Amino acid sequence: MSAKKPVRLGVNVLASGRHDAAWKTLPNAADLSTDIDEFVRIAQLAERGRIDALFLAENPAGRFSDAYYRPWRALDPLALHAALSQATRHIGLVVTTTTLYGHPYITARQIASLEHISKGRAGWNITTSQDPETLQAYGLKEGFEQKQRYERATEFTQIVTSLWDSLPREAVVADARRNVFVDPARLRPINVQGQHFRSAGALLTPVGPQGRPVIFQAGESEESKAFGARWADALFTGQRTLQNAQKFYADVKALAQGYGRDPDRLLVVPGLFPILGGTEAEAQRRKDELDELLDHEALRIELARQLAIDPEDLPLDAPPPYDKIEAAKNNQPQSLRWHRTQILNEARQNNWTVRQVVRGNFRGGHRVIVGTPEQVAADILYWVDHGAADGFNFNIDILTSGLKDLVEQLIPELQKAGRFRREYEGTTLRDNLGLPRYQAAAA
Ligand SMILES: Cc1cc2nc3c(=O)[nH]c(=O)nc-3n(C[C@H](O)[C@H](O)[C@H](O)COP(=O)(O)O)c2cc1C
Repeated sequence: MSAKKPVRLGVNVLASGRHDAAWKTLPNAADLSTDIDEFVRIAQLAERGRIDALFLAENPAGRFSDAYYRPWRALDPLALHAALSQATRHIGLVVTTTTLYGHPYITARQIASLEHISKGRAGWNITTSQDPETLQAYGLKEGFEQKQRYERATEFTQIVTSLWDSLPREAVVADARRNVFVDPARLRPINVQGQHFRSAGALLTPVGPQGRPVIFQAGESEESKAFGARWADALFTGQRTLQNAQKFYADVKALAQGYGRDPDRLLVVPGLFPILGGTEAEAQRRKDELDELLDHEALRIELARQLAIDPEDLPLDAPPPYDKIEAAKNNQPQSLRWHRTQILNEARQNNWTVRQVVRGNFRGGHRVIVGTPEQVAADILYWVDHGAADGFNFNIDILTSGLKDLVEQLIPELQKAGRFRREYEGTTLRDNLGLPRYQAAAA
């Protein structure tokens, strides 16, 4: 590695790939959402590319509407990662779960179990979404106010993390002579009586190889940044312009410092959606061919719904009506707010038409970059070297062909530049991310 900091790279796994029309190019699309053999192939290919971690996003009990138009997240991420852990040896396995609903004890136990099953490769990605369909599925009449969402998330996370520390490995003495298996004197039982969640006692699952699974968090608002800077090891974020990304990066590093943390131990990994080709023209052709398969009319109507404006006011070949969008702000749904903010910033900056917005991954949210492996590698390094990111979480256009190109063409460019590993550094996700093993403070 050169003196410049190494780049952290994840892959976001979504059946068929991130491009909403990818499935239309694949022969077996109907079964991809549940095909374990295909997920294993993806995981092994990513591991061949020495990728840090595989992310499984999750929309808890909701967004069934996604399934109407493309392969979706049919499998529970915890079950899927438990299976993938047995088919891989090095790659980190990050499970997304909510901190708004359910009970933190269950989440603590599930992720701690994955930590052992994967021999120290577990990550927990914290989300705070409240999609209307999720609320409905959970039988809730209404969502939580912004402040309350982060109060809930904080209590939830406090309970999960303190439970993770509650059964130290040293407490498992297995002392046959004294007839003691777990020494109760060495437990660190918790007693959290919060406004929203309560839990007392110790977790049944002992501390695993990393000391604590790696905590990721995904969010965008000021409350979310403050929460992430306090709790997370890495922030998964949507950033579509360099300026926005630099501001986000500076803000969260300063917030982390404010919590007495070393800002280098809070990694910032925006999503990135590369479309690669041997030449720039070839890459553009790959994107155009996929975009042509999109249902532009349905996407235009969906965009109007998310912006809470009349679809009549959103013709495909005009710029988005920014005044009307601003005026409708209070009627726009909270969920997917970050997608909207990001893509509208990029659209305004580049004078995009609505057609360019609907072809710009507005449903996935992340920045699209079209080019040769050399160009994309240069862009990645530019962001990392200009205070905008510590690495990226890749969205792959078509799985698995896009991932194969990424592993065989883009990764070698980053390796040649001395900025990405050729071999995994260690056996745990913390080792590979350059984060020390977690050590609970003395009781
Ligand atoms: C990059 C990114 C990825 C996200 N992934 C998920 C996800 O997989 N599941 C989910 O329910 N919410 C996801 N979210 C939503 C956030 O958890 C959060 O609810 C959303 O950003 C709104 O909260 P905020 O306005 O306070 O940032 C994601 C957000 C971002 C920025």
